[in-house]
Amino acid sequence: MIVAIDGPAATGKSTSAKLVAHKLGFTYLDTGAMYRCVTLSVLRHDIDLSDSAVLAKLLSDTHIEFGQKNGDVSVSLNGENVSREIRQAEVTNHVSAVSALASVREALVRIQRQIAANQDCVLEGRDIGTIVFPDADIKFFLIADDRVRAERRQLDLNALGENKSIEALMDEIRRRDKLDSERDHSPLRKADDAVEVDTTQLTINEQVDFMVNKVKSLTIGN
Ligand code: DC
Repeated sequence: MIVAIDGPAATGKSTSAKLVAHKLGFTYLDTGAMYRCVTLSVLRHDIDLSDSAVLAKLLSDTHIEFGQKNGDVSVSLNGENVSREIRQAEVTNHVSAVSALASVREALVRIQRQIAANQDCVLEGRDIGTIVFPDADIKFFLIADDRVRAERRQLDLNALGENKSIEALMDEIRRRDKLDSERDHSPLRKADDAVEVDTTQLTINEQVDFMVNKVKSLTIGN
């Protein structure tokens, strides 16, 4: 079974998708983390994004793996745990440009489909219900008010030891949503058959319970 969870930045996708997967006993795949890994590699190697040959080489040399320890999901890039580094502002500021590139998307979508091919999976991202798995068993599209999203992002950054004002974060989130929704390849878009969930007033537990119950109602045929 494939559960697709899409939506703009900081709507609670990662936190709730991880818990939904855990409650259902499904594999969790954070596709945003994969785009962040490629972005980190691009930054570290100072890659010129218009140089398609260099980018293709970088993609073929990029190996991303997910691990699970004590309920926490870690991400490694060529064997190095980069779970914290990929959340830093430098990566966040460049990830929309990198994820807009067709070659990057093709490479990562291929891997996403392979991982989810033979197992029950909750995939979280921007294009899961539209492009990666248009036939997903169930699709959710999470949204939330800009200010609430900025407040959530501020808490995430504080945990990383970074600090930014709510206004700056609102600007950043809106800029990223605009880039993600207006790009040519697989833009952020709600699939026609996705269930929209406004998380502005919901706690994480409420979001999770709502989604888990929807999935369970499918499996027991209600
Ligand atoms: O969910 P996130 O903030 O970690 O995602 C980081 C970026 O990756 C996001 O701004 C757009 C891109 N992304 C994408 O283009 N397609 C996906 N399926 C997931 C993320």
